Amino acid sequence: LKENHKGIKAGLLQNLHQLLPHSSSPSLPGPPSFFLIGNMMELTHDHLPIHLTNLAQRYGNIYRLKCGNTTMVVLNSSEVIREALVKKWSDFAGRPVSYTGDIVSGGGHTISLGDYNEEWRAHRRLVHSALQRCCQQSLHSVIERQALHLRKVLMDYQGSAVDLSEDFTVAASNVITTLAFGKEYNKTSSELQQLHSCLNEIVALWGSSWISALDSFPLLRKLPNPVFSRLLKEVAKRDEIIKEHLNNYKSQDKRHEDAITGSLLQGLEKQHNTEHGVRLTDIHVHMATVDLLIGGTETTAAWLNWTVAFLLHRPEVQTKVYEEMCTVLEGRYPKYSDRHRLPVLSALINEVLRLRPVAPLAVPHRAIRDSSIAGYFIPKNTVIIPNLFGAHHDPAVWSDPYNFKPERFLAGGGGSTRALIPFGGGARLCLGESVAKMELFLFTAYLLRDFHFIPPENKASLPDLRGVASVVLKVKPYTVVACRRPETNP
Ligand code: HEM
Repeated sequence: LKENHKGIKAGLLQNLHQLLPHSSSPSLPGPPSFFLIGNMMELTHDHLPIHLTNLAQRYGNIYRLKCGNTTMVVLNSSEVIREALVKKWSDFAGRPVSYTGDIVSGGGHTISLGDYNEEWRAHRRLVHSALQRCCQQSLHSVIERQALHLRKVLMDYQGSAVDLSEDFTVAASNVITTLAFGKEYNKTSSELQQLHSCLNEIVALWGSSWISALDSFPLLRKLPNPVFSRLLKEVAKRDEIIKEHLNNYKSQDKRHEDAITGSLLQGLEKQHNTEHGVRLTDIHVHMATVDLLIGGTETTAAWLNWTVAFLLHRPEVQTKVYEEMCTVLEGRYPKYSDRHRLPVLSALINEVLRLRPVAPLAVPHRAIRDSSIAGYFIPKNTVIIPNLFGAHHDPAVWSDPYNFKPERFLAGGGGSTRALIPFGGGARLCLGESVAKMELFLFTAYLLRDFHFIPPENKASLPDLRGVASVVLKVKPYTVVACRRPETNP
């Protein structure tokens, strides 16, 4: 009996030891950290996702980096990322609060950069339900309309070599502006150009080391900093543009019924979300619009650009997708509900999401309490970097991880969608995941039904597939010829 008791006690202690985070757990591996600057140099590489993935080969799937007073933990496999973001979501749902993040997010009022608290939860819930309603009512037809418009734009190029990146940006942006305010633009619209240049500038400036240095070294805020002044100017411009859009929307006699802005404003009017003392206001609608425009434009556009770039390298994949559509759809345009009957197209979409997750390092998370990941103690306030790019290139999960092989996702190909995590997970799962998935499917299907893409002249001009990594992972500019398929209906 005594032995039995001892056994039970030891078992309980062991379980408790595993459940509770403890500072006596092994210390996290990581590169040597230097006095004052820590590992800051590791973070200045031009292709950070590749660099962090290479470090994982030396230090493992979880390691730490130090930057000033901040400890960052980089997660490099889908298993550890899921442990933190999904299984222990309530420990890691925070966002790092920073001086410059506060400026671009209107005092932490965006969903993407806002820290986890009751106000953020009410905000995300409001926008999520507005987005769901709008997706059910009109998303399919909004995307179809933009896909047909894109088809016309490509036909007008009449087989000349062009860079399609701007056309993809306009298509993706029009989906969001139609959803948000019932408004679409053409490529030459000065209003659209102003909006894009301003949002792109903010993302690019905010990612620059001139700006991030202000977060790590507060004394620098006292010195003149022209890059920071530009950031402030662009943020003011952005707010002016969005304000004008929202005011226009409010003043319309006949408002676009399905627009998200309408749902959000109604949500505010009906507001019973004074629960927990939270009161959402116009600023939340304003910043949600910023979230949707920033989150929903460059990501989808970059993904489309990657898809065409990869297809130029493996033209036979285009033929297979096309033949599959001809057999299954018998000439009609696809619907999103056809996706399960189009496995080759789905495999292409998954493979591009795997190889080039367009938000390669997601958005940093913050531990909101002491916790643990993979048995390592993670103290409160540690910054967590989910390296989605690294997880998608993990050789323990993917065979030949650096090569473009959509067939890995077909029956018997060995690739599992379970290990894909391009939209993050848990409480911070990409808010636009369902919008994005429908867009990727319909845009790709429409493009490959009507066109095949070939490089301009010769193989020497095939796109460089390494990419340029900032917040969004983009392909370097390239040109392509969109040849109309002879079978296409007029
Ligand atoms: C967040 C990926 C398209 C809106 C994120 C995150 C990722 C991601 C990885 C960070 C998740 C995390 O913090 O753990 C993608 C990809 C897209 C895409 C791969 C397309 C290929 C969109 C679209 C929208 C959108 C179309 C808007 C309609 C957002 C927002 C957040 C977010 C608002 C912040 C969520 C939060 O902090 O709670 N996305 N995204 N994204 N995304 Fe997307």
